[in-house]
Amino acid sequence: MSPLHVTRTLPEDATDAALRADVLHGLTITPKWLPPKWFYDARGSELFERITELPEYYPTRAEREILATRSGEIAAASGARTLVELGSGSSEKTRYLIEAFPSLAAYVPVDVSESALTQAGKALVAEHPRLDVHALIADFTAPLALPETPGPRLVAFLGGTIGNLLPAERAGFLASVRSLLAPGDGLLLGTDLVKDEEVLVRAYDDAAGVTAAFNKNVLAVIDRELGADFDPDTFDHVAVWDAEREWIEMRLRSRTAQTVKVPALDLAVDFAAGEELRTEVSAKFRKEGVTGELAAAGLELTHWWTDARGRFALSLSVAR
Ligand SMILES: C[S@@+](CC[C@H](N)C(=O)[O-])C[C@H]1O[C@@H](n2cnc3c(N)ncnc32)[C@H](O)[C@@H]1O
Repeated sequence: MSPLHVTRTLPEDATDAALRADVLHGLTITPKWLPPKWFYDARGSELFERITELPEYYPTRAEREILATRSGEIAAASGARTLVELGSGSSEKTRYLIEAFPSLAAYVPVDVSESALTQAGKALVAEHPRLDVHALIADFTAPLALPETPGPRLVAFLGGTIGNLLPAERAGFLASVRSLLAPGDGLLLGTDLVKDEEVLVRAYDDAAGVTAAFNKNVLAVIDRELGADFDPDTFDHVAVWDAEREWIEMRLRSRTAQTVKVPALDLAVDFAAGEELRTEVSAKFRKEGVTGELAAAGLELTHWWTDARGRFALSLSVAR
């Protein structure tokens, strides 16, 4: 069995510095806003996995349905020998791809969550002894240095995670993905599609309260890492659909007027009663928009698959 290679492309303290910078900026601007990558410590990753099993959270099931039925076609169209996966998490759905690619030599999962990466990586090396699994602990919004592995390369970005980037961030992100590809290499992109508001809101505000716990986990991360005194019970989980921008917004609404201290930043943050802190956007897409955004980055959409109910799409595009 090949060993699991794990590379941390960020120095240990870069994460700390990045968290400090994001919290300082995000809690001192109006409206307040924190980037979603800080949800994902070990508990956040675990909560996300529970979200994927909720009856209301259709995206994982819909994307799995597409992968289960289309992985053979994806493999034939791509011919990749290296599969790079950004925001890989548990790599659970990726198994359909790994099993469908006849000459896959290397799998490179990339995630900020060390716990999710090592857990998934260990299971994969045991299941696929001849596959070179090279996990990268890295931020996919920063320039990536990928290991030397055989081409062609397919970059997968599943789960609709691209929707967590704001439109301008998406353009920069797709351009940087394009820079990782040689002509003929591909991008496999999972995008959640615009649909009925009620279905969308329920997916982000489940009856069991798992998404609420996931949302509040960012406060626990700031408490632990920066010594803050956020009390998650004084915030309500909010999910709203922005029909104009076609995205779901997750927020935390302060139940009372309160001041939160963040000693590591020498900061005291005032919240008015009812004030909201934005923690995640999750954009929903249409085929024309996806095609245009890919084209602007030098990627030509060649395939578009949806689940039978048309809720979620996987697209394959090729670097020109
Ligand atoms: C919505 S989950 C999707 C997980 C998995 N791909 C799926 O489809 O179920 C987003 C994943 O991206 C990771 N992530 C979020 N922001 C990231 C960033 N800036 N850089 C690297 N990984 C990130 C999280 O740790 C998490 O595993």
